[in-house]
Amino acid sequence: METEARASGGTAVDLPTLELRSITKRFGGVTALSGVSLEVSRGEVVAIVGDNGAGKSTLIKSVAGVHSPEEGEIRIEGELVRFSEPNDSREYGIEVVYQDLALAPNLDIATNMFLGRELVRGPLQILRKREMRRQAQEILDEFKIRVPSVRATVRTLSGGQRQGVAIGRATHWGKRLVVMDEPTAALGVAETARVEAIIHRMRERGLAVLIVSHNLDQVFRVADRIYVMRRGSLAGHRTVSETTSNEIVSLITGLA
Ligand SMILES: Nc1ncnc2c1ncn2[C@@H]1O[C@H](COP(=O)(O)OP(=O)(O)OP(=O)(O)O)[C@@H](O)[C@H]1O
Ligand SMILES: [Mg+2]
Repeated sequence: METEARASGGTAVDLPTLELRSITKRFGGVTALSGVSLEVSRGEVVAIVGDNGAGKSTLIKSVAGVHSPEEGEIRIEGELVRFSEPNDSREYGIEVVYQDLALAPNLDIATNMFLGRELVRGPLQILRKREMRRQAQEILDEFKIRVPSVRATVRTLSGGQRQGVAIGRATHWGKRLVVMDEPTAALGVAETARVEAIIHRMRERGLAVLIVSHNLDQVFRVADRIYVMRRGSLAGHRTVSETTSNEIVSLITGLA
């Protein structure tokens, strides 16, 4: 892992890692996002909260390149980008852990970790399976994610273990920004604590982290700043140290 390179590398500029300006996304007659602007910088954990259907996953998928917004700008360290598929955002060092995880259940853990980015050798592009397994194990060990074996198929894992694999993969490949949509919704207490520890480490490494969570206690534990979404728009934006969960709840519900 390139821990040092991440921590001390990057660009000299102080531009936000990710900046969204007035993003609007419609699905037929439904406006899922309306003029949403936000930014996330290196070494910062930013949370997005809001009720079901507020547009959080749509916003994340727009950053990932799954959706193409009709209006607005996405900037990565100041550079205007236009992603039309997830590979485009990956090239910019952005990794996303989706709400539905997007792992291949019938493939083993190591294969999932390197899906679409397989290590190969020689002109015949022979898969370096043993090396991929070794590295996959190293990633899991680093984040203390316990699984029976990297050869185990994802289908046989518990929800928490799957989440661990998805987060391990994102942390390994995400050189700039890691985005997580409800990473602990399906997890128990100990597993949730482990994921939160991983988030703290991402921040220490100088990554930018964007997390969607319904768990306000968690948001207050891990995040530096909070954006509140309501019905596709931004209802407010607060610094964690200067707000309370009561205030955030009233922004979420619109009942001040
Ligand atoms: N692919 C799609 N096609 C049509 N409508 C969609 C699509 N994806 C999302 N929507 C709509 O956009 C709105 C926002 O959905 P989104 O999934 O972003 O909400 P969310 O904030 O992530 O909710 P949750 O907390 O339940 O995950 C909803 O009205 C939803 O029905
Ligand atoms: Mg969602």
